Amino acid sequence: VRSCLMLAVQADGAVIETIESLGDDPDSLHPVQRAFLEHHGLQCGFCTPGLVLTAKALLERNPSPTEEEIREAIAGNVCRCTGYVYIVDSIAAAAKEMSVARREELVDA
Ligand code: FES
Repeated sequence: VRSCLMLAVQADGAVIETIESLGDDPDSLHPVQRAFLEHHGLQCGFCTPGLVLTAKALLERNPSPTEEEIREAIAGNVCRCTGYVYIVDSIAAAAKEMSVARREELVDA
């Protein structure tokens, strides 16, 4: 959700996930965080927390989004720096990495 469009009282009893809750250890970043880093998905970083959490939510409900679905999912996030190409690339890369990790988990199980 967009925090600017939701009253705090509406979140009563909900689990709230923030960029900080994903962790800040450079050696154990979430795949979306790592993909943004590796695929140049950020410049100044102002928009990055919102985009990372939006991407994470997208990939949880749609593990293999098309480029159009990625662009639709991030339509509410404004980035003044990147032009979105590398952001979309980052999310697609994270989707691919998370898909491989899921397959490896199934093989190991
Ligand atoms: Fe600067 Fe998105 S990286 S606003």
